Amino acid sequence: VRQVCKDPSGPYILDFYFLLPKTESVFEFTNLKCTTLNESYCSFDYCILKSMNRTFKYGSLKVKLHQGPIHKIKINFALYKRLNGYHPFLYNVTVDGCKFIKNKKGSPVAAFIYNLFGPFSNINHSCPYDKDIIVDRAPVSHINEQLTKVLPFPPGDYGFFSIWYSYGIKRATVDVFGTLS
Ligand SMILES: *[C@@H]1O[C@H](CO)[C@@H](O)[C@H](O)[C@H]1NC(C)=O
Ligand SMILES: *[C@@H]1O[C@H](CO)[C@@H](O)[C@H](O)[C@H]1NC(C)=O
Ligand SMILES: *[C@@H]1O[C@H](CO)[C@@H](O)[C@H](O)[C@H]1NC(C)=O
Ligand SMILES: *[C@@H]1O[C@H](CO)[C@@H](O)[C@H](O)[C@H]1NC(C)=O
Repeated sequence: VRQVCKDPSGPYILDFYFLLPKTESVFEFTNLKCTTLNESYCSFDYCILKSMNRTFKYGSLKVKLHQGPIHKIKINFALYKRLNGYHPFLYNVTVDGCKFIKNKKGSPVAAFIYNLFGPFSNINHSCPYDKDIIVDRAPVSHINEQLTKVLPFPPGDYGFFSIWYSYGIKRATVDVFGTLS
């Protein structure tokens, strides 16, 4: 996963983190935030992080598309690290959603993100998208496993921000917050 990056300090920063000793790190989700920019274009029925018990935590969301079918989608996502406010950290990537879903190998970073929740959603089909988009109980344990094994980042508070566009217009944002310790 080395599709770097608009980080001013340069791509070498990623190589540096690969050299850190791998310790057992724990990732804790603290918040999930979904915002629509126009309720009559799309709206969220729910957007939740939930603990069933000590071992089973999950994230779910459902967005209703009121003006579908949608043939053109763009997603801009970025990773932030908190340090007196959230600052850009490594990634700020934009993908064409319709191209990506047809060929997930086209963008390794997007594919990594997609694999965290995609298998638990109804988005794995080619464009257009219509009516409801659902992520149904994406297990935090699955996400943790991917995150801590593949990307040994330094401890801290992180924010993953994503902006969803259709036909070039900003429609919604989905932000995920968590702490790596
Ligand atoms: C919100 O979306 C509706 C449906 O597409 C559109 O008619 C309306 O102009 C939009 N409102 C704004 C403020 O963009
Ligand atoms: C936690 O909840 C899930 C889903 O209800 C269940 O399958 C699992 O057995 C529970 N685990 C424990 C330790 O209670
Ligand atoms: C990515 O960078 C652009 C340009 O600095 C910024 O406007 C945008 O908000 C960033 N994307 C995210 C998801 O934060
Ligand atoms: C998505 O769909 C493709 C083709 O239908 C399939 O090969 C792939 O395994 C699916 N991926 C996921 C994550 O469900």
